[in-house]
This record gives sequence, C-alpha cells and structure tokens, in this order.
Amino acid sequence: MSDPSGAQNRARPSGPASESGGPAEREAASPLSGRPVAAIILAAGKSTRMRSKLPKPLHPICGLPMTAHVVRACRAAGVQRIVVVVGHEAEKVRAGLGEDVEYTLQEQQRGTGDAARAAQPLLADWPGTILVLAGDVPLLPAATLQRLIARHHQCGAAATLLTAFLEDPTGYGRVIRDPSGGVARIVEERDASAEERAIKEWFPSIYAFDAPALWSTLAAVRAENAQGEYYLTDTVGLLVGQGARVEAIPADETADVLGVNTRVELAAAAAILRRRLLTDLMLSGVTVTDPANTYVEVDVQIGQDTVLEPNTFLLNGTRIGEDCVLGPFARIEKSTLGNGVRVLASQVVESVLEDGAKVGPFANLRPGTHLGPKVKIGDFVELKNARLGAGAQASHLAYIGDAEVGEGTNIGAGTITCNYDGYAKHRTVIGKNAFIGSHATLIAPVTVGDGAFVAAASPVAENVPPDALAIARAHPTIKEGWAARRRAERGAKTPDKDKQG
Ligand code: UD1
Ligand code: MG
Repeated sequence: MSDPSGAQNRARPSGPASESGGPAEREAASPLSGRPVAAIILAAGKSTRMRSKLPKPLHPICGLPMTAHVVRACRAAGVQRIVVVVGHEAEKVRAGLGEDVEYTLQEQQRGTGDAARAAQPLLADWPGTILVLAGDVPLLPAATLQRLIARHHQCGAAATLLTAFLEDPTGYGRVIRDPSGGVARIVEERDASAEERAIKEWFPSIYAFDAPALWSTLAAVRAENAQGEYYLTDTVGLLVGQGARVEAIPADETADVLGVNTRVELAAAAAILRRRLLTDLMLSGVTVTDPANTYVEVDVQIGQDTVLEPNTFLLNGTRIGEDCVLGPFARIEKSTLGNGVRVLASQVVESVLEDGAKVGPFANLRPGTHLGPKVKIGDFVELKNARLGAGAQASHLAYIGDAEVGEGTNIGAGTITCNYDGYAKHRTVIGKNAFIGSHATLIAPVTVGDGAFVAAASPVAENVPPDALAIARAHPTIKEGWAARRRAERGAKTPDKDKQG
C-alpha cells in the first residue's frame, strides 16, 4: 500500500510560531534569547463548576485531555521544564497526562497563588523566566507564548501578562490600569466593585515572571478576599506596589485564551478547536463538505483531495491517504487508510485499509481488520481480527472474525466464521480465489484451500483442499401438489393481516 504518512497534512492545534509565520511571530522566532524558561501549569483545583467525576484537566477536547493542550503549547514554544501542579484527584490527573512532565502536589486547594507555591521546591533556583498558566486554557497557541516570552525578555519586566478583551468578561479577573495606562493590579470578579466589573479588559491567567520576583511576591500573598483563597493574581498588584515593572500584551484573539470552567465552555472551546483543525486541513487541500458537522481530532493526518462528507469522525491518530471519500456517517478511529479509499456510513476501528478499498454502507470493522487493495466490504458485514487479500469481497451480511481470506476470494451473503466455541477463539484460513457460497458456516479451526468452492448453505467443519468442492446440504424433499392440497383444505384466503408478525 502507499504510505499514507507521505505528503500528508497534519492538523495541529499549537505548532511552533515559525509555522504560521506572521511578522509578530517572526520577531518571536527565537524568543528564549539565552534565558531559560520553565512553566508551571495549575491543575489542582476541584473544578466544582464542571459538576463531574472526571477531573477537569482530563476532560477531552478534540482527542486530548484539556490540560495536555496547555502542555503541548509550552513544549512547542520551547519551554525547557514543565511542572504541573496536581491536587484534586492527583493520581488520576497524573495518569491521564502522562509522565513526560514533572508533577508537584498541592495538598489542599487554597487558591491559585498557593498552587503556584507548590512548584517552588522544584523551581526555587530556576535562573530565568517562569511562565504560570492555568490548566484550563486549552486553545492557547504556542506562538502566543513565544510572543509573551519575547516581550518579557525584551523589556526586562518582573512580570509580563497576557490580557484580552470581551464585551462581557463575566467570571474573569479584570485588569485595572493606572491613569498612565500601566497595569496596576488584577481584581477578581467576586471582589470587584461595579465600576471595575464594567471593565472589558480581562486576565486569562497567563503570566511570564522573573523567577526570584515570583517567589518573593508569592510569599507576600494573603487570603483576604471574598473566597478566602490565595490568589496568584494578587502578585501583580504587589509587584507594582514594590515599584517593579509589570508589562502586558494583548492576546491575538480572544478565542486563544478562553478559560473552561463549565461544560458549556468546554463545548465552546471544542467547537473552536475543531474549526481550527478543519481550517488547517482545508487550506492544505482536503475538502470538508460541512465543517459544522465534521469531527477531526488533533494529530489526524489527511492527504490531498480527500473529501470528508458530513458526520464524519476521524479520531485517535487516524491517518488517511489522498483521494479518499469518507462519509456521510463514517467513524474511523486509530486506523490507517491508503489512497482512494471509500468509507460510507460505517465504523472502522484499529484497522488498516489499503488503496482503493471500499467499505459500507453499514459495515463494522473492528480491531485487527486489514483490507488489502481494492477489497470490497458491503452492508451488514462485521470484520474482526481478519485479513483480506487484494480484491477479496464480502458484499453483504457476513461475520468474518479471526480469519485470513486470500486475494480474489468471494465471501457470499450470510457467511459466518464460527470462531468461538464458548472457551477459545479459533482461526479460519481461506486461500486465494476461493468461492464461499451464501450462508456458508465455517466452523473454526478450518482451512479452505486456494480456488476451492464451498456450496451455498454448507456447514464446513473439515479442511477443504485446494480446488475442491465442499457441499453439505440435506436433500430437499419435494412433495408434488402439497401446497395446492393445503389451500384446498384450508381455503384460499390470504392470512389475516392483523395476525402477521
Ligand atoms: C482564574 C483567575 C482569573 C482569571 C481566570 C482565567 C485567580 C484567582 N483567578 O480564575 O483572574 O480571569 O483564571 O481563566 O487566579 N487551581 C489550583 N489550585 C487551586 C485553585 C485553582 O491548581 O487551589 C487551578 C485550577 O485547577 C485551574 C486554575 O488553577 O486550572 C485556575 O483556577 P480556576 O478555579 O479555574 O480559576 P478561575 O476562577 O477561572
Ligand atoms: Mg478557570
């Protein structure tokens, strides 16, 4: 099969800045400029507003846990150390995010300032810049982080903030500026006056700190506010009060920095990311007939001139070649498709489909299916752990499990591989250019040789040699005139419609 990884277009939520290439991004092309950068990602909160048994950092968005998006953005921005603060359901969060980041435990959830302090034992001597990010800002692009870092390093501030604007920033901390326009402090919604709440500039909880300034200021944060919590946002006012320089830059797009606190915001963030992934794919040569109803996860790769029809789901690292037509109603998960493959109204999971394979409508390809070139799988066919050679077909109503089918072989409608005896699974091996008649029952373990012919309606429990015929049918008993005599006895009436099943 052709290699679907060649000349492919990969949807990425947060590639490095140099890939998108605007002027501001070029300025940020080497933002680290000598100073090392670490990141603290806060993910210890209880996330009460999600009303979920699943910890918020693990709620998936386009195939990745929410906080994994933030980790990726840091990595793509060139951040050298990433420390994730865990607390609520710490072990679950850690297992869900994986071991390629460092973890620190916030024992009690006493606010974002307290959470950042939990990273101090790991980063106390960090000699450069520390980013602090909330783990619930999943749309953050790496390029924005690079811009923040570049600005922070250029101006030598103690802290540099990212800010954003919304007509109605209800729920977010507001940016309070002094009369000359400099940042003065951040006020939380719950502590804000009516006048402060009317401010449209809000703080997405994304900071770059000079490391010593972060640690010294965190020590001074007090929990004297409406929630009785240690607010990380208070570091801003404290730094300004000490005469330290605090800078701010605006986010490119508000959507980049939206926080997710409820499932309503989760759905909104997922919709934005989905649209971004599809936009990248369309710009790279993939046709998406109806982007509002097409679902492609991160890291899915799709070749040029492939068409995604509505209600198509491409999930979990799936790779698709060129010139395929997928959908309407295709769900393809963790699978690899070659070029020119057609999948209509079917499910394909953990399978490989080589060039020109045709699937559906209404087929179910379960894990371990491998279709050779130009294999045809039609309606109501279920395949599992089955390998079909080039040009083989099962066009209607079949179950082929734990099987091997040679090239050019035809599987008739209603064929079943009986792979399970109640204790163990057994294999069916069918050779090349064989013909399996309709309603054959292949009782595994069993082998049908190359070119063999299994007659329709035959149960086959013994091996069939190459080029042989296997036929196992009871001879029908034909009783001449029987039906006519029955009608004569019982009348010619059609059956009572109400009694038909
Ligand atoms: C926070 C900011 C707010 C900002 C908003 C942006 C504070 C006090 N407020 O509010 O100014 O506009 O983010 O989205 O910082 N966390 C911990 N430990 C805790 C508490 C929270 O690790 O004890 C983590 C959470 O898991 C979450 C992040 O910190 O990932 C932010 O906490 P959250 O409760 O979502 O704060 P917001 O109310 O959104
Ligand atoms: Mg939040």
